[in-house]
Amino acid sequence: MDLDAKFPALKNDLILRAARGEETERAPVWVMRQAGRYLPEFQEVRKKHEFFEVCRTPELATEVTLQPIRRYKGLLDAAIIFCDILVVPQAMGMEVLMNPGPSFPDPLCTPSDIPTKLKSKIDVKKELGYVFDAISMTRKALEGEVALIGFCGAPWTLFAYMIEGGGSKSFTKAKTWLYKYPQESKELLLRIADVCADFLIGQALAGAQLLQVFDSWASELSPHSFQAFSLPSLKHISTRLRAALALRGLPSTKIPLILFAKGANASLSVLAREAGYDVLGLDWCIDPLDARKAVSPSVIGDDSQQQVTALQGNLDPDVLYGGREAIEREVKRMCTSFRASIDDKDENEKAGPPRAWIANLGHGITPGVDPEDMRFFLECVHKYSSKDTQL
Ligand code: CP3
Repeated sequence: MDLDAKFPALKNDLILRAARGEETERAPVWVMRQAGRYLPEFQEVRKKHEFFEVCRTPELATEVTLQPIRRYKGLLDAAIIFCDILVVPQAMGMEVLMNPGPSFPDPLCTPSDIPTKLKSKIDVKKELGYVFDAISMTRKALEGEVALIGFCGAPWTLFAYMIEGGGSKSFTKAKTWLYKYPQESKELLLRIADVCADFLIGQALAGAQLLQVFDSWASELSPHSFQAFSLPSLKHISTRLRAALALRGLPSTKIPLILFAKGANASLSVLAREAGYDVLGLDWCIDPLDARKAVSPSVIGDDSQQQVTALQGNLDPDVLYGGREAIEREVKRMCTSFRASIDDKDENEKAGPPRAWIANLGHGITPGVDPEDMRFFLECVHKYSSKDTQL
């Protein structure tokens, strides 16, 4: 199956090359939440349209996805489809409001709620076909300028929202489930994973060129709980996705899979060995060289079925509030750290692959950032990640 034939030829494949493990002339760069509230043009759209209306209307989702690409022309190497991780709980039958943060009027209280509050069979095309339409429309509208990323939330992060009923500081309710109802929790996590897998398969077939899974609340779990509860569901997604793509004649390297498990740095080696993702996203709480050592074949074992081909990240998003001097200094530090792990021969041998790197923040960009500071961040990444710049 040739998915690319339906779309304009890609003119900038830097991020695909890095995701496949190639060392690139400079680091490709994109930013989590790059289409969002820090952009005045996004606020304009939001004045006229509800949040989920933007997600559900392919023309609006396309427009908002393209906003950062237009504004930062030539500086971003990927677009990420405008949507939200919470469309999966919606597809499973739950009501989700955005006022202004996410809230579920009727969350899951105990496992006995599952049969009444969740649909048993989910037709992803029927429930989330609007995302597939938005992806195909955006991929055409991008005219091959940059690659398009599709995404979904990780089962654990979605499970936490479905039980907490919104964001939380302590995640006590969701974690109560893990300890009180471990078997029911595992079953629910796999049930969510099935929907996520179908959702990502649909996005790939609609034209997404990379796929990212966001496990934003991995940080709330002990390494043991993360590996007992989140990891099997993450693995379920990658296994099902790769099998479905292979069935359609798409090699598993064709559409790179990125996992961003925020705060799961203690589990990086396990993720590299077992989760089945090509790229691991990093938050800012780990040094890139340490991350590279943790995922290298010498640590995880050469016989691991899937090798990590690249790392992604990892500037503290709050650096963007620090002013130009701080942005330049910290981007330079990030580039030195990733590039030291790439250029330094001894360290390189010690750390092993992956040598490739996709620059990003260590979490999403926040609403108060000045868009011109975001531009400066991107310019600094271009400069200091370039092989032509001596650090
Ligand atoms: O540009 C992009 O990255 C694509 C769009 C995108 C949104 N949400 C749009 C959005 C993506 C990739 C997401 C993922 C998402 N959504 C995550 C994972 C990433 C992360 O930040 O950890 C999570 C946890 C959510 C859930 C969610 N959606 C929250 C907590 C909120 C409210 C507060 C916040 O952080 O913005 C949302 C709403 C949301 N999703 C907004 C946007 C632009 C702002 C809502 C608005 O327009 O009023």
